[in-house]
Amino acid sequence: MSIERTLVLVKPDGVARNLSGAILARIEAKGYTLVELKKTDATRAMLEEHYAEHVGKPFYEPLVEFMLSGPVVAAIFEGQRVIEGFRALAGTTDPTTAAPGTIRGDLGRDWGLKVQQNLVHGSDSVESAEREIAIWFA
Ligand code: RTP
Ligand code: MG
Repeated sequence: MSIERTLVLVKPDGVARNLSGAILARIEAKGYTLVELKKTDATRAMLEEHYAEHVGKPFYEPLVEFMLSGPVVAAIFEGQRVIEGFRALAGTTDPTTAAPGTIRGDLGRDWGLKVQQNLVHGSDSVESAEREIAIWFA
């Protein structure tokens, strides 16, 4: 099994709630290796590339506005099957029903907004990871 890399974002809600360290600690505690880390502001152009698969969906514009609402923490983590492993740590998209024990299940909730604020992003495939790492760590 080859070593993978994944892009993790602590989204603006996670940074604003001072959860960046707690979230990164869970990923490190699982055993994955932190390769790159920075706090940064997304641009609309970056988000159009990052969320290209969601352009035109009803939540797309609220999602972009949310991701522009404050800084994010971007990280590259490395390890065998880290893409699948991080998504398991993150939990499902909807924080209300994400399993307890996951980042979204333990730390997230529905705030009644136009888009789910769910604390983290993780790449969903090797191809997505390569594409997203190029956007955030150009
Ligand atoms: P992510 O890409 O952020 O890691 O999350 P994901 O794979 O679990 O979810 P995805 O389907 O890729 O959706 C991207 C992000 O859009 C927001 N979203 N809101 N119905 C909704 O309110 C809704 N659907 C999607 C979430 O922030 C989701 O993480
Ligand atoms: Mg996704």
